[in-house]
Amino acid sequence: MSARRPEPTLNAEPVPESFFVSHPTTASVVHYDDEVVRRFALTTVLWGIVGMSVGVLIAAQLLWPALNFDVPYLTYSRLRPLHTNAVIFAFGGSALFATSYYVVQRTCQTRLFLPRLAMFTFWGWQLVIVAAAITLPMGITQSREYAELEWPIDLLIAVVWVSYAVVFFGTIVKREVDHIYVANWFFGAFILAVAILHIVNNIVIPFSATQSYPVYGGTVDAMVQWWYGHNAVGFFLTAGFLGMMYYFVPKQVGKPIYSYRLSIVHFWALISTYMWAGPHHLLYTSLPDWVQSVGMVFSLILLAPSWGGMINGVMTLSGAWHKLRTDPIIKFLIVSLSFYGMSTFEGPMMAIKTVNALSHYTDWTIGHVHSGALGWVGLISIGSLYALIPRLYGKPAMHSVPAINLHFWLATIGIVLYIVAMWIAGVMQGLMWRAMDADGTLSYSFVESLRATYPYYAVRLLGGALYLSGMFIMAWNVWRTVQPEQVMTAREDALPGVAK
Ligand code: HEM
Ligand code: HEM
Repeated sequence: MSARRPEPTLNAEPVPESFFVSHPTTASVVHYDDEVVRRFALTTVLWGIVGMSVGVLIAAQLLWPALNFDVPYLTYSRLRPLHTNAVIFAFGGSALFATSYYVVQRTCQTRLFLPRLAMFTFWGWQLVIVAAAITLPMGITQSREYAELEWPIDLLIAVVWVSYAVVFFGTIVKREVDHIYVANWFFGAFILAVAILHIVNNIVIPFSATQSYPVYGGTVDAMVQWWYGHNAVGFFLTAGFLGMMYYFVPKQVGKPIYSYRLSIVHFWALISTYMWAGPHHLLYTSLPDWVQSVGMVFSLILLAPSWGGMINGVMTLSGAWHKLRTDPIIKFLIVSLSFYGMSTFEGPMMAIKTVNALSHYTDWTIGHVHSGALGWVGLISIGSLYALIPRLYGKPAMHSVPAINLHFWLATIGIVLYIVAMWIAGVMQGLMWRAMDADGTLSYSFVESLRATYPYYAVRLLGGALYLSGMFIMAWNVWRTVQPEQVMTAREDALPGVAK
């Protein structure tokens, strides 16, 4: 430890000097292990396109069921988990691997611990994705949402994930600066929590190579599953991406995070609250009533740390708001924070029992999911990748800045169409299902509510298609940027936008 550089202080708050300089100031330049980062960055774009294309297909199937062509592998019930697994674990997971490996090296001023093990995590994760893409359309599933993959794949995930933890925490241990920058705290919590969640929720008794039974039964089984499901949201889809946010927002804006102290409060408050909110997925079920109430109360409390984090990110731009006009990457990052704020306001409201009585089972939930998924997870990943890719390939900037701008508008308009359509559809469905005539009979049949939903499904399809088209533009832009003939002599650590 004594060889480590002391941490400089900034506004009386500890922040590693390495974070604010565009290039290492140490006499010896650190050569980082970036090959694994490059691979994960590129597969993020690839799996994003695959996962979202399946999303667009299932959105179309809800409108035109015949689009399953009577092929069992293409039925909605099999493609839906393929979509969720591809976008969350293949697209989101690759983005998290790429950025965490990148950020931990820069903020610790050291190379990865066991780089070959890091490369193993890349190939292992690709194998998991391919195995999922084969088994889910075949109908092989544990029927646990977001944990559908059967036990042999789960074992592989556990091995890859433990290797990831060894690489990440090993790098922290051998760091060259005293301070552990807050982004690493979020990445670290995400890695640890996902390991625990994955293992506990997937304890099964194998029955054959493609079938197993959970060790839990009845209500306990449901509770474990939604403790997992909700924390998959809290740690996979939130804490990890907050790690991304705490590095790329200040880096791209060129200013320190608004309040480092708030970021520490944000961290502890968020991780200690999320774990208790899972029962809001099981309101009005056989779960004991007090457990449901605990879930509701903790969900309401969750609003505070979530907004603390959002405000910390957005306020980092104070004094530099003009950059929103010129830097489309900052637009991605800041608008993603707005959607984060929106979905973490909506979530606690939906966790109130009486609100959930209306929203549950309706498309309102789907709207909430996608304002978090497309708005927060999608935009923060895309913005971070646009910042990251030129640096990884020694380029001064992405090939086309207007294309980034176009992508931003396609994505934003796409999200708005998607979620507004689902909000209206959801509230309408909830109201139609509970409407009663004077004699106590239901006013509407289910099919009537479905027919009323069709126009909104069409709008959602359009929104999804716009979002997907933005991803194709990104793929083209990335492809042009990484071409070797355009190599420039760029500083290893220079970031477009900040360097200017
Ligand atoms: C082009 C973009 C996308 C489209 C068109 C799309 C479409 C869909 C559709 C049609 C469903 C099924 C809804 C239902 O059963 O009623 C769905 C579910 C879901 N999608 Fe997407 N999606 C997209 C992107 C994403 C992304 C990027 C993520 C995550 C990062 C995501 C996460 C989810 C999740 C978690 C569900 C399950 C929701 C639930 O069970 O409540 N989607 N999506
Ligand atoms: C303060 C934060 C949040 C709270 C309290 C919250 C609360 C809720 C509630 C009450 C539901 C509906 C449960 C039901 O009726 O079945 C829900 C569903 C969901 N939320 Fe959130 N939410 C939050 C943030 C987020 C964010 C940021 C994301 C995505 C990045 C997200 C993703 C999801 C998903 C995927 C589901 C659907 C789960 C399923 O049924 O398959 N949530 N959330």
